[in-house]
Amino acid sequence: MESRGPLATWHGLLLLLPLMPPSHAGRALRHTVPSQRTQDPPALHLSNGPGQEPVTIMTFNLTKITKTSSSYEFRTWDPEGVIFYGDTNPKDDWFVLGLWDGRPEVQLHNHWAQLTVVIGPWLDDGRWHQLEVKIHRDSVLLGWMGRRCCLRLRQVSGPLAYKPQPIMRIAVGRLLFPASNLWLPLVPALDGCLRQHDWLDQQAQSSASVPTGLRSCSVESQPGIFFPPGTGAERSLQDIPQPHVEPWAFSLDLGLQLAAGSGPLLALGTPENPTRLSLHLQDQVVLSSGSEPGLDLPLVLGLPLQLNLTVSRVVLSQGPKKEMLTLPPVGPGSLFNLWAQLQGHLFLGALPGEASSASFCLDGLWAQGQRLDMDRALSRNQDIWTHSCPQSPSNGTDTTY
Ligand SMILES: *[C@@H]1O[C@H](CO)[C@@H](O)[C@H](O)[C@H]1NC(C)=O
Ligand SMILES: *[C@@H]1O[C@H](CO)[C@@H](O)[C@H](O)[C@H]1NC(C)=O
Ligand SMILES: *[C@@H]1O[C@H](CO)[C@@H](O)[C@H](O)[C@H]1NC(C)=O
Repeated sequence: MESRGPLATWHGLLLLLPLMPPSHAGRALRHTVPSQRTQDPPALHLSNGPGQEPVTIMTFNLTKITKTSSSYEFRTWDPEGVIFYGDTNPKDDWFVLGLWDGRPEVQLHNHWAQLTVVIGPWLDDGRWHQLEVKIHRDSVLLGWMGRRCCLRLRQVSGPLAYKPQPIMRIAVGRLLFPASNLWLPLVPALDGCLRQHDWLDQQAQSSASVPTGLRSCSVESQPGIFFPPGTGAERSLQDIPQPHVEPWAFSLDLGLQLAAGSGPLLALGTPENPTRLSLHLQDQVVLSSGSEPGLDLPLVLGLPLQLNLTVSRVVLSQGPKKEMLTLPPVGPGSLFNLWAQLQGHLFLGALPGEASSASFCLDGLWAQGQRLDMDRALSRNQDIWTHSCPQSPSNGTDTTY
């Protein structure tokens, strides 16, 4: 994960409870879940429209509650994000179930306890997994894969009916407070799906907003980053891995899995002049620097494309194929100079304010050998699939639009 510092910097109480040995908890323990029945509520995609709103918010009257468990099936390739947030009060009585580093994470704050627990199997394998959360007397129970209980946190809750504010809110896919209020940082956006979701007690539910998820969960996906036509993202060059200094060198790697249409794939520049260096998609991959004539490589899917920069030249390579572009001398407008500017950006996909018909799937994007997470983009189009790609281009683009 890019942002979570050493645990030692954390000031609260941290419990890491490996109840199952790692081999047991890991990927070997697979469970096939029965497919969806027709009477179930529609599956919810946890990514949503513009802004940071939850996919849906429900409220429950706790004085009427008799069933205190929630269960659902969950599928994702994304190792980090919020599955749901619940509170009676965002200041001093809240609960978050998310994923961190691919495993379930509970963060909780109330009158009885403040804690963070990361536990259980890795769930970011693109398969459906059952999860259950239950409040029972003074305990919170978290179960997965059909096991009745895998984690029991004792003395962390009190009787629900006696909460000072007897209304519980549940927000799916996001928090109802700033992410900085969490005990440990977590980037809330989660590219995943929930189905067969059953939240607390229907009889006690007093309201529910209409789900706003934009994406369908019926498309089979594979891990990756998918840019539908016209979508783009920006990262600041200041907060991605920095170039090597002596001698100056910077590398970007991208694995192109699917590509259609034409338009920018990647560019380095500033918001005013985004294409000091660009990779463009149009039946082939074209590398160009400013107004210099471009170089092209045939478009080959599945082989990593590598862009290596030095002060004087750029090498674009894919497998045994290699093209070299000589850069103009170092000056205020040069590529090298971008790293000295706050406004130096890495652009992916469509450039801000420009139309593009290019859509593509990357199996990953690396700067200086380190994977970049689109959830940490300075800005990005909400339609980007941050951790998944359709298994075929027509499937993805048809259902998104
Ligand atoms: C919750 O339910 C109780 C019992 O039916 C009722 O008296 C109370 O008004 C309800 N509270 C809210 C905020 O709806
Ligand atoms: C879309 O995906 C489904 C499986 O999810 C597959 O059966 C179907 O053939 C795909 N459609 C196209 C046009 O590729
Ligand atoms: C590009 O840079 C990487 C990392 O420095 C290096 O491993 C790789 O061999 C370079 N590729 C080319 C074609 O020069």
